[in-house]
This record gives sequence, C-alpha cells and structure tokens, in this order.
Amino acid sequence: MRHLLSTGDLSRDDAVLLLDTAEEMLSVAQRPIKKLPTLRGQTVVNLFFEDSTRTRISFEAAAKRLSADVINFAAKGSSVSKGESLKDTALTLQAMGADAVVIRHGASGAPARLARAGWIDSAILNAGDGSHEHPTQALLDAFTMRRHLAPSGDRSLEGRRVAIVGDVLHSRVARSNALLLATLGAEVTLVAPPTLMPYGVGSWPVETSYDLDSVLAKSDAVMMLRVQTERMNAAFFPSAREYSRRYGLDTKRMAKLPDHAIVMHPGPMNRGMEITADVADSVRSVIVEQVTNGVAVRMAALYLLLSGARTPETAATHDLT
Ligand code: CP
Repeated sequence: MRHLLSTGDLSRDDAVLLLDTAEEMLSVAQRPIKKLPTLRGQTVVNLFFEDSTRTRISFEAAAKRLSADVINFAAKGSSVSKGESLKDTALTLQAMGADAVVIRHGASGAPARLARAGWIDSAILNAGDGSHEHPTQALLDAFTMRRHLAPSGDRSLEGRRVAIVGDVLHSRVARSNALLLATLGAEVTLVAPPTLMPYGVGSWPVETSYDLDSVLAKSDAVMMLRVQTERMNAAFFPSAREYSRRYGLDTKRMAKLPDHAIVMHPGPMNRGMEITADVADSVRSVIVEQVTNGVAVRMAALYLLLSGARTPETAATHDLT
C-alpha cells in the first residue's frame, strides 16, 4: 500500500484488511495507555488547504497514537497565501522529511497530482479533494456499518442496503462511499433532488431515486449529507424549507426505517436542514460514534502505509496502488 487516494483503488481484500486492522486499532484506542510505538521516528504532515474539524484532528490523534511526529500545516497563514504553488509546498515538505502527507484540497485530483508528479517521496492520503473523494470518511462509515449491521461472523456488508441522501452533487463522501460499499457487496441508493444528482451518476455502481420516503423502509442505514451551500449556485437549490420537507430526516420520517437501521452523517451537520436535532441526537444516530471510529480507521491507514510491517506475501496481496 503506497498511497490512499480513492476507494475505487481498493480491492475487497484491501478494504477488509483496512477495516480489520481498524478493529485492532479501536481496541488500542480503548486501552488506558492508548499509544503504540509503531511509527516512532516517522513524520506525518497534515496539509489542509480547506477547513476541517473531524478529519484533521482525527488524523493528528491517529498519528500520535502510533507515536509519529505530527506537523499541522494550514494554507491560511502559510506562504500559500502569498501564491506558493502545490509543487513548491511539496518540495518544502520533502526537504523536511515528511513520511506521509495527509492532504485536503479544494481541487479534485490534487492528492493524485501530489502522489504522481514525483515532487515528493511520501505516502499521500487523500483527506478530501473538491467534490471528488474522501476515502477515509467512507472507510470509517463502512467500519461503523459493519459494527452495527454485521457485528459477528464474517462481518460482511454483502446485500446490506444503504441510502445516501441529499446534496450528492457536491459530495466527495457520497462518491467514496458508493465505490467502497459496492466493493464490499452493499447495495447503495442515492436519493437527491434532480438538481443535486450528479451528471454521469449512471456510471456509478448505485441505484438512484428522487423519493426518500419510498427508499427508507428498505434501508439498513441512511446517510444524510450536508447541503453544501458554499459550493452551490442559488439556482440549484429549491429553498431550505422545501428541501427539508422533501429530503430532510425528521422523527416522523425516521419511523419509516426498519427497527435495526442506523442514521449516519459525516458532519458537519446543518441541524434543521438535512437532519433535525432530535434525529441527530436520537438512539438510532451513530454520528458521534462515526467520529470515534475515524481515529481507528486513520490509525489503520497510516499503519498499513508506513509501518512496513507486512510480509512480502501479504504486501503482494494488499498492494493498494
Ligand atoms: N466529515 C468531515 O470531513 O468533516 P470535517 O470537514 O470536519 O473534516
């Protein structure tokens, strides 16, 4: 495993290895002494060109729990504000000896450019690029689903039905989830207003619907997406009230879900828009648990990329890119 750029690069074995490793990491995180010495002497750089709370902090916590040194780099307040290019930023990180670069960038494809341009030797982890992908979010979502929907046995999500609802057009979370869940055998239905369904969704491994109510009753998990008004032309968006009425999850609508179904959201939430506060805080909601699981999943990703602990045999099986 050299980089983690897209869930589309992961075979089922790769994804299961990441999820199984994250299970082990979760047990480490629950110990009184949470640290492993595995990445001592290695440096992880968090290179964030866009705002983040959950992803940046959980990558930092994950790296520290593996005893890596962590450098946090935010574009605001750096020489990027003076016009420094991605290439020169990468060369600077290379000169400082970064072993892994966790990058969030507003431009789709920026992490792949960093991985493939030859400016830097580090492992690259995509922490969200434009409206393209957010692979560690999808992995932590699958991890959370597995813990609730397949807690024992082979832990498989085969045949499980997942509804991903809302602003799919601008969502990197939706694409990464659609690709990963299909690889894991789950059946995904994207539900969105016509103006927020991506052009080209026909090539995704999903069903689509414009009718949330008809999809809920047959869903094992419903994932509400943030309405990304900051990326949106007003013409695309009906009105907050109309949107909530047709695509928001409130208690009345949540009652249509099967008893075992879980409610998810990647955060940050627009409470009152795509999800009401009482649903977000309900017993069916696993939103806070998703954040906890994010640390374990990111520990697993950093461990598999940086530790070199795998034997050549398993490396051959699990080489991700
Ligand atoms: N889910 C997610 O990516 O949240 P942040 O933007 O806070 O990192």
